[in-house]
Amino acid sequence: RLSTPIQDRPAPPIPQIEEEDIYIALYDYVARTNKDLTFKKGDTMVILKKGQNWSIAQLLEPNPLYSVTEGSIPTNYVKKQSSVVSQPSWMFDTADRSEAVSLLMQPCNNHGDFLARRRTTNPNEYALSVRNGATVNHIKIEKMGGQGYSIDHHTMFATLNDLVGYYQENMLANDIRLRSPCKQVVMESPQTAGLSHDLADEWEIDRKSIELKEKLGKGNFGEVYKGLWNGTTRVAVKKMIKSDLLDKEEFLKEAKIMKKLHHPKLVQLYAVCTHSEPFYIVTELMCNGSLREYLREKGKDLNEDTLIEMAIQVATGMVYLEVNDYIHRDLAARNILVGKNNICKIADFGLARVTQGNDIYQAKVGAEFPIRWTAPEAATMQQFTIKSDVWSFGILLTEIIGNGRVPYAGFQTFEVLEQVERGYRMEKLEKCSEQLYDIMMACWHKDPNQRPSFESLVMQLETCDSAAFLE
Ligand SMILES: Nc1ncnc2c1ncn2[C@@H]1O[C@H](COP(=O)(O)OP(=O)(O)OP(=O)(O)O)[C@@H](O)[C@H]1O
Ligand SMILES: [Mg+2]
Repeated sequence: RLSTPIQDRPAPPIPQIEEEDIYIALYDYVARTNKDLTFKKGDTMVILKKGQNWSIAQLLEPNPLYSVTEGSIPTNYVKKQSSVVSQPSWMFDTADRSEAVSLLMQPCNNHGDFLARRRTTNPNEYALSVRNGATVNHIKIEKMGGQGYSIDHHTMFATLNDLVGYYQENMLANDIRLRSPCKQVVMESPQTAGLSHDLADEWEIDRKSIELKEKLGKGNFGEVYKGLWNGTTRVAVKKMIKSDLLDKEEFLKEAKIMKKLHHPKLVQLYAVCTHSEPFYIVTELMCNGSLREYLREKGKDLNEDTLIEMAIQVATGMVYLEVNDYIHRDLAARNILVGKNNICKIADFGLARVTQGNDIYQAKVGAEFPIRWTAPEAATMQQFTIKSDVWSFGILLTEIIGNGRVPYAGFQTFEVLEQVERGYRMEKLEKCSEQLYDIMMACWHKDPNQRPSFESLVMQLETCDSAAFLE
């Protein structure tokens, strides 16, 4: 332990700095505790101690506005300067498909403006995203063995640079020429692993460090409030219902796993308060609330491509759970939360497990009864698997395309399971394309093993919108 707080000690002299050791901030960060460093996008620093989630850094050109020049930073907010500088301005290495769309749709970008990004489903492959009027087209770049890159399987390029150069002169299949690289607009800063360096491993926090603000809503496990942590950081707080159904051991075990899951399409768990009841679950705050309400209010203003894009984001988050052998158990539009630019993240994964099996179904009444989202084998035999999540995802697709409509509208809850077991499936909504309906029906295959994986769902959905990959 240090006797003097970091900010009161003189900064140690920086020994000779190798070019290689300089890091650059990709996003702004505002200190949340007195051991954190405040910095702005573009600030340079050296890393004194590198950690997976949090590192200790020293600013190279301290900004007179910040009193602290050395402290902890989220590791994912910085990158080696050399790797950033050497990249062409159209390379948006870390952007995913939905980010590419929101970046290119910003008013500062025009028809033909583009970026290249890694594909989420296969990080060894790249795609081009190109603004095409009021939409964005995505074009797969094939790696042709040792021969380089190609879009059309005929014209080969040794490097991505050559490929981009060529299509700035020649038309792509959609009759567009690449114009200017997507203008760097501020991307939403990524989530940190936990609230701060000190809590990264030990994430039980003092209840008193959280100030509860207005109530955001109420669900099957408790009430959700806006909160302020340490007077600095906006969070969401779920106050768990005090209930005999809540198995404390199970809850703690589950929360430990949830804390380890990090993905841009999962709502990040920050901390818990479990020393006394009611338990608190502290997570990132999502400014536009639940997808269900969002669809009910704004659904009719969103075009089909945007809706598909949102479904892809959910499926992408589910791929992460799938490959990590984790099951959600309560996948539904109410448990997808929406941020800026139609960003969707999955919430409440694993929570359904901590209330004992059967009871969650009996505890819920009316239209919200999750039986409408639950695969028959899970409802009747508690066989929850990633394939029962796939079933729920199919139901979620009907919510997305139906602007937040209740699944099996017109059926009583008790009738749903009975009908489904007899082979009944929800009919195709008018707005829904045949292709999308086929995907839903595949999710609702009676045999769980015949249902698609989330990975294949992402690929199928990617070919669904009008911005589909052009071959
Ligand atoms: N992290 C968050 N950021 C912003 N709003 C949230 C957050 N978590 C929950 N909410 C809001 O609080 C409401 C209640 O959430 P809660 O998870 O308790 O219930 P639910 O999702 O309706 O049902 P379930 O019990 O199946 O999760 C949500 O509908 C949403 O509007
Ligand atoms: Mg929820």
